[in-house]
Amino acid sequence: MAETVMEQEQQAEILNPDPVVIAFCCNWCSYTGADLAGTSRLQYPPQIRIIRVMCSGMVHPNLVIDALTKGADGVMICGCHLGDCHYIDGNYKTEKRADAIKLMLEDFGLEPERFRLEWVSASEGPKFAQVMTDMVAALKRLPPSSYKVG
Ligand code: FES
Repeated sequence: MAETVMEQEQQAEILNPDPVVIAFCCNWCSYTGADLAGTSRLQYPPQIRIIRVMCSGMVHPNLVIDALTKGADGVMICGCHLGDCHYIDGNYKTEKRADAIKLMLEDFGLEPERFRLEWVSASEGPKFAQVMTDMVAALKRLPPSSYKVG
């Protein structure tokens, strides 16, 4: 069957069909949101590698840069909504660190789309699936990370 012009344009945009994404998810909200997405049988891309952390505030910017310079095409930090952090203000710290991470990306010559911060609660399984799908779609439109070996 012949492809439509739109389908051809969409395929032409794909520079990296299989991007690897590391998602740091806080134990209390986002990881549970991921779990809910799974138990609700919501589909999200298999390229997501979830790392469970107790709080988004414990993800040091160096971990993000390390992941991006050692093979990941993108990194996402997911935490509780502001005001809901189980450690009171961990996610406020995350928000400040995200600004620093964005500046570091520039220094490392990495596109801003390679990092995202999202707030996902335990009841937001659909949101979890959506943000993961969006992230992978955005990364498919970028070439593989310049730090990727092989
Ligand atoms: S416990 Fe979820 S962001 Fe702190």
